Amino acid sequence: MTHTNSHGFDGRTAIVTGSGSGIGWASTQILARAGATVIATDIAEDRLQALTTDLAGFDVKAIAGDITSEETVQQIVSAAGGKVDILANVAGIMDGVLPADEVDDATWQRVFDINVTAVLRTTRAVLPLMREHGSGSIVNIASEAAFRGSVGGAAYTASKHAVVGLTKSSAFMYGPQGIRTNAVAPGAVLTGLDMSWKSEYGVSRTGPVLQATMSPPAEAEQIASTVVWLASDAAANINGVILASDGGWSTV
Ligand SMILES: NC(=O)c1ccc[n+]([C@@H]2O[C@H](COP(=O)([O-])OP(=O)(O)OC[C@H]3O[C@@H](n4cnc5c(N)ncnc54)[C@H](O)[C@@H]3O)[C@@H](O)[C@H]2O)c1
Repeated sequence: MTHTNSHGFDGRTAIVTGSGSGIGWASTQILARAGATVIATDIAEDRLQALTTDLAGFDVKAIAGDITSEETVQQIVSAAGGKVDILANVAGIMDGVLPADEVDDATWQRVFDINVTAVLRTTRAVLPLMREHGSGSIVNIASEAAFRGSVGGAAYTASKHAVVGLTKSSAFMYGPQGIRTNAVAPGAVLTGLDMSWKSEYGVSRTGPVLQATMSPPAEAEQIASTVVWLASDAAANINGVILASDGGWSTV
């Protein structure tokens, strides 16, 4: 990565997963408008279409597909054309706040496939390119649920703790090769994320705690600006950090 303008992304190629909505949408918008070539990917083809229409004139390539499929991962990396400077792993799903004794195998598996395994797969796919160039920035999305047990159900909480572990492992392993890996841990954010509770017991436990401790919800752009800052040269000395963007919730 050449160290020129700290917020300009001219000549940089970024992959953003979950570009169709919320934090991924906002991250794609900021990166593309700052000059990056963005490979925008999401399972929702119609929302990707809306994104590219909105960003007409900017360098955005949309790839629709399920990020848990290796085929989609390969398509995304091929679209980058041999150089990836930034990987923002934003796609994720909630779990209905199902506690351990209520979570079904399918929910557990899907949450882990999207929130954790896909993050590993995209990381694994871009690492050879980043190593070749001796630089790169990977930004994962953790959550307040990566810090505590009172925000999501068993699967979501475990998956976001796993994102922290994966982030720290890659930061440690590839830092010496010029590749930084960090995560943003958002508090509540106004997005399309399905926050519905599917467990009465889950609601009875988390509801009062959330009401008492949660900061007011943020806008997706506020989280995206943190993602983009971590991806930029302005954060060149930051590696392995789990950066809360939660209005102070993590202090409670
Ligand atoms: N919204 C919040 O309050 C909040 C809080 C903490 C963390 N997060 C995390 O932020 C990230 C982004 O979520 P958001 O709030 O912007 O939600 P969102 O639902 O608005 O956006 C997530 C996007 O990911 C896409 N996606 C889901 N599964 C996919 C798959 N299998 N393949 C490809 N794309 C897929 C969805 O279609 C959607 O467009 C997630 O990792 C989420 O866990 C959100």
